[in-house]
Amino acid sequence: MISKKMADAINKHMNLELHSAHLYLSMSSCANALGLKGAATWFSVQYREEMAHFFKFYTYLIDQGENIELLAGKAVPNQYKTLLEMVEKTLVHEQLITKCINDLSEQAVKEKDHATQIFLQWFVTEQIEEENNDRDLIAKLKMVGDNGYGILMIDAEMGQRVFTPPPGTTVMI
Ligand code: FEO
Repeated sequence: MISKKMADAINKHMNLELHSAHLYLSMSSCANALGLKGAATWFSVQYREEMAHFFKFYTYLIDQGENIELLAGKAVPNQYKTLLEMVEKTLVHEQLITKCINDLSEQAVKEKDHATQIFLQWFVTEQIEEENNDRDLIAKLKMVGDNGYGILMIDAEMGQRVFTPPPGTTVMI
């Protein structure tokens, strides 16, 4: 059992993960429109990861005997001029997610809610990797600037990304 306050905070965050999924699915479409098929794949994998995160929170609430509440989603942008712009916005968004995960963790500690603390550990580590990936890409994209050949090389590399379901997620994605 978890407190009502904790359940509400997790429910709110679960909806933010769903918003993240929509954000990246839209970026995938925009990358495709820019002719960057590799980046489109990269963002579609990111979309699937976010859906997996959403379902991890969903399953946790269900396992704790809670009913989930899906909130109305915010519209996501669908116009980006460059791949660099998309990845920079991705990093800013992931930094927000990191802050939210840290806030949830702090609340779990305050409430001596050990189960939620353990559950959130995976996300704390995951956020380090997410931000790191974005920083690496930003550095590479800044290095090549608007050199088309360089961008195509990065696009090809991004196209290699494959989706690996995170632990605890199976058929729902
Ligand atoms: Fe679900 Fe990208 O954090």
